[in-house]
Amino acid sequence: MTDFSAIHNPVLLEQCVQLVAPALNEPGSIVVDCTLGLAGHACAFLAAAPAARLIGIDRDAEALAMATQRMYEAGFAARFTPVHAAFDELSSVLAQRDIAMVNAVFMDLGLSSLQIDENERGFSYSHDAPLDMRMDTSQSLTAQHVLASYDERDLERIFRAYGEERFSRQIAREIVRRREREPLSKSSQLNALVDAVVPLSHRPAGNPAKRVFQALRIEVNGELDKLASTLPQAALHLAPGGRIVVESYHSLEDKEVKSFMNLGLHADVPAGLPVIPPDAQPFFRPLTRGAIKADDKQIEGNPRSASVRLRGVELTRPLPDRFASRFELMSRGRLDEDGPGSRSRFAQSRFAQSRSMRSNSARTGTRKG
Ligand SMILES: C[S@@+](CC[C@H](N)C(=O)[O-])C[C@H]1O[C@@H](n2cnc3c(N)ncnc32)[C@H](O)[C@@H]1O
Repeated sequence: MTDFSAIHNPVLLEQCVQLVAPALNEPGSIVVDCTLGLAGHACAFLAAAPAARLIGIDRDAEALAMATQRMYEAGFAARFTPVHAAFDELSSVLAQRDIAMVNAVFMDLGLSSLQIDENERGFSYSHDAPLDMRMDTSQSLTAQHVLASYDERDLERIFRAYGEERFSRQIAREIVRRREREPLSKSSQLNALVDAVVPLSHRPAGNPAKRVFQALRIEVNGELDKLASTLPQAALHLAPGGRIVVESYHSLEDKEVKSFMNLGLHADVPAGLPVIPPDAQPFFRPLTRGAIKADDKQIEGNPRSASVRLRGVELTRPLPDRFASRFELMSRGRLDEDGPGSRSRFAQSRFAQSRSMRSNSARTGTRKG
């Protein structure tokens, strides 16, 4: 039997089980694990909730196959459905299985240790590898393609928005200059380029290219975009009493999760209104006070947990109609939490191109369900 926990150590496992399992007491309860990975969290949910079944989504076919093996070995096969998809396909994944409502939706965002450790997938800046970075290897858009085809301004904006990189402009300019001579295809080339551009006196701790790699990974996989459209889908399919629990690993993800949850945690009225009508009352109850972080002991045992922020909410009543319509639009990427038109022009034009390259696999039918 494979020792899966030696490959990927689930972050804040106990806390996640405590947040998810209470929603799964009724026979036939359903939990969707949107980021199945190697099923560390998923196995623990099914062990803690013997009446529940789990739908496990992952866009990485290799992770999905290993998770499925693990579920069989753990004796959970009858209560487990593996789905190869991106999690922003949540509504159609459920519709294809005639499921209208679920009792819990869980997300453990980012990469699994399996993906980070597989050098040839190009996620890690510490190994020389092709600049790939696709979680779903059947999509067309790779990091190499982004570096070869995006114009200087878009590269700069990606590095600034997704990497919070101070030298975004200089790095983007150098990429465009260098690629005229030779394509940037290996991580060692990108490391050397960033190393040459970022002054020694302004380097963050660790590898100076760390932020650029993070930004490229977020862009290639459409990570924030997909998160923003999945959270409202989760709420739309949640039965009253159901829970949404999310682990994020960088501030941009956590900001998205927090602002989404806040939509239902506060009364939907102008400040200072003396009486709050029943329909404007909050519809989420917080399960965490702010975000749960890993303590020193957990970080020592699992360094990946150092940046985790765990948040959870419970749906206390059916979604008010106003929010149901709003979440429908948000799920389609037509509206974000700040209202119509708030997605930046940069995002709109860039996403149009990268989205179509990311969704190639869906159109060519390479997914399985
Ligand atoms: C941190 S790992 C999950 C680990 C898992 N909780 C465990 O205990 O083994 C994140 C997983 O989510 C998957 N993933 C990330 N973004 C995704 C998306 N948009 N759609 C589907 N899967 C995604 C990755 O492929 C990866 O396998």
